[in-house]
Amino acid sequence: MPASPPPPDDAPSAAPAALWAGLARHRPPGADAADRAWRSPVRGPWLTSVLGAVLLATLPLVIVTGLLDWIAYGPRLDQAFPRDVGWLHPPVFDWPTRPAWLFRLTQGLHVALGIVLVPVVLGKLWSVVPKLFDWPPARSTAQLLERLSLVLLVGGILFQTATGLLNIQYAYLFGFDFYTAHWYGAWIFTAALVAHVAIKLPRLVTALRGPGFARTPVERTRPEPADPDGLVARRPGPATMSRRAVLAVVGGGALLLAALTVGQSVDALRRTALLLPRGRRIGDGPTGFPVNRSAAAAGVTPERTGPGWRLTLRAGNRTVALDRARLLALAQHTAVLPIACVEGWSTTQTWTGVRLRDLAALAGSADPATARVRSLERAGLFREAALHRGQVTDPDALLALRVNGVDLSLDHGYPARIIVPALPGVHCTKWVTEIVFDG
Ligand code: HEM
Repeated sequence: MPASPPPPDDAPSAAPAALWAGLARHRPPGADAADRAWRSPVRGPWLTSVLGAVLLATLPLVIVTGLLDWIAYGPRLDQAFPRDVGWLHPPVFDWPTRPAWLFRLTQGLHVALGIVLVPVVLGKLWSVVPKLFDWPPARSTAQLLERLSLVLLVGGILFQTATGLLNIQYAYLFGFDFYTAHWYGAWIFTAALVAHVAIKLPRLVTALRGPGFARTPVERTRPEPADPDGLVARRPGPATMSRRAVLAVVGGGALLLAALTVGQSVDALRRTALLLPRGRRIGDGPTGFPVNRSAAAAGVTPERTGPGWRLTLRAGNRTVALDRARLLALAQHTAVLPIACVEGWSTTQTWTGVRLRDLAALAGSADPATARVRSLERAGLFREAALHRGQVTDPDALLALRVNGVDLSLDHGYPARIIVPALPGVHCTKWVTEIVFDG
């Protein structure tokens, strides 16, 4: 028997086509329930596109600022988490010290936008929720792939948001490493977002260029004409809300979250940071500003920071040990600088202490390439931090001894702590005991 000619490349092969048709014929019990459950006439390309446009304008900022957080940790100094990411990273560079508010801005935006966008993400998911119950789940291989990418997109944003929110509350309920999960989750989510935007952007543009519904009141709210994506309800019910009311609920939710969040970065509004207790003041007076890790949590006691405390400086074979009185006798410099926590809060304070470059010179290192700073803390990821040349030699880079005109409190790092412009808070090492200058 002669062999039959192979099918042309673009012809659907028989097996998948039969599979899609078979799936369409065999509707599982409850497959029609979605038509009855999701009947809102406001769902459709316009509402989905408005919410999509907001996310399209803002999510890239969340992604970029997240990647910048990884760079700010200093991958070149081998101290970014996760450490070993192979080629999967953005271009790395030494995190600059200017403008001094850089990390405050990038990480503040990352966390605040991540929180503020929650209602928008939920609104967007609500606008497409009937699609999750579509039967058959796909009508072609291409559509199947697209729907799989949606699993990564929706799963990705929910995962990133959940892990991010738990992280800023220090609620490590998930039992896996936050950095690794949030990092790889970010790449999966970003890839799915890029694919989704590439597929849907033309539809978004068409929907937004078409007739607008922002002014239509509820009594004149009607479904849009049936659309190729099937967003419009097949059996629409009467409108109980206008589209603008839906947008107002979403926008109002976002504004409320913004009002409860922004105080963690704005000193005058600190009391309103109800959602982010770590960004609130811890008391009155010059040292009442927020603390992430207290001395008690770090196991640093007044005995270890008392008269017996010494700062050891090392450069090559040279070692210099200084007590606090000798440090106070060196040239003091005052700088007004923000301290910005990776969990999003930040605050500007007036710090006084010895310039790091003066300490390097004292130790015999005229132009140090790096400084490794060690804390009295015995455990914890951040008991040691490395600074690059720019961070050591900046004129405002200090070993701070005082803040706002008084001695540092124990919780703020007494007897001495690092403060460097634009340096992530976790690297502004507290309770410093040793600095090793290299190069
Ligand atoms: C929407 C998608 C999101 C993406 C793509 C994303 C991406 C990233 C990336 C790439 C990092 C650096 C991770 C690392 O250093 O290993 C990061 C850090 C961080 N993200 Fe997100 N993120 C998202 C949402 C959120 C949300 C909603 C929050 C919380 C409200 C959040 C909170 C954080 C925090 C606190 C860090 C800093 C962790 C640290 O350095 O200690 N993220 N994010």
